[in-house]
Amino acid sequence: MNQTTTFPELRAARAQLPEPVGFVPTMGYLHEGHLSLARRAREECASVVVSIFVNPTQFAPTEDLDAYPRDLERDLRLLEEIGVDLVWTPTPEVMYPEGFQTWVTVEELTQVLEGASRPTHFRGVTTVVAKLFNGVQPQKAYFGQKDAQQAVVIQRMVKDLNFPVEIIVCPIVREPDGLAMSSRNTYLNPDERQAATVLYRSLTAAAEAFAAGERDADRLRAIVRDMVDAEPLADLEYISCAHPETLQELDGEVERALLSMAVRVGKTRLIDNFLVMNHAFSP
Ligand code: PAF
Repeated sequence: MNQTTTFPELRAARAQLPEPVGFVPTMGYLHEGHLSLARRAREECASVVVSIFVNPTQFAPTEDLDAYPRDLERDLRLLEEIGVDLVWTPTPEVMYPEGFQTWVTVEELTQVLEGASRPTHFRGVTTVVAKLFNGVQPQKAYFGQKDAQQAVVIQRMVKDLNFPVEIIVCPIVREPDGLAMSSRNTYLNPDERQAATVLYRSLTAAAEAFAAGERDADRLRAIVRDMVDAEPLADLEYISCAHPETLQELDGEVERALLSMAVRVGKTRLIDNFLVMNHAFSP
């Protein structure tokens, strides 16, 4: 497995890779969620590139950039085991050299949900992903459904800016008790870790109600809200029942929806989502 840092090193290594090239962008501290993306890329592509870069521009000054967990040695070991061909570990200076002032912004999709409380987050994500795509020039890129809004935003960016890459969104990987895998789960103490299962439990309850015939968007949101309110260590930031592609909030009867939520458990902010769909419905 090759490892590169600068753009010239990356370009030289990339030029040697058989195509199609599958790419998994990450911020490191890899868990099963990331590894499932790398394995899928390994199955589907002739070469696999993974980037590890804790991107400062997607963190607000109040967020956890400095505390964000890092363990490059372990990450490299795990990627080697999967048979990844190339790992790109750019530094902040490589990504954002002095004088950097060009940003990629997806307008409307980034105003809602995560973007409502994190106004500069997606500008950082789309800018770095555009730069990563320009460097790696993959034919396929793999993202997790866990960051549902990120996946929708990246798909929009790729379409709007004609990036020649197919975006593949892979299912959420969960712990045995349903908690969605996230590098931030390591911040939780044992009581908080137990309380954090409320995201999965409440979304499951809403999805079960939907499967049993509940179609009202407000009532689906209320099922989640009531369960989170009953968990003393959890503080609901938002619960959304939105159109899965436009991310606009839905009212009344819904046939297909992205139920998504953000919850603070202690100091840790966690997100999760379920897609619900009436299978008898064809849009
Ligand atoms: O999902 C992530 O880990 C990050 O947002 C990404 C896509 C690697 C960009 O920094």
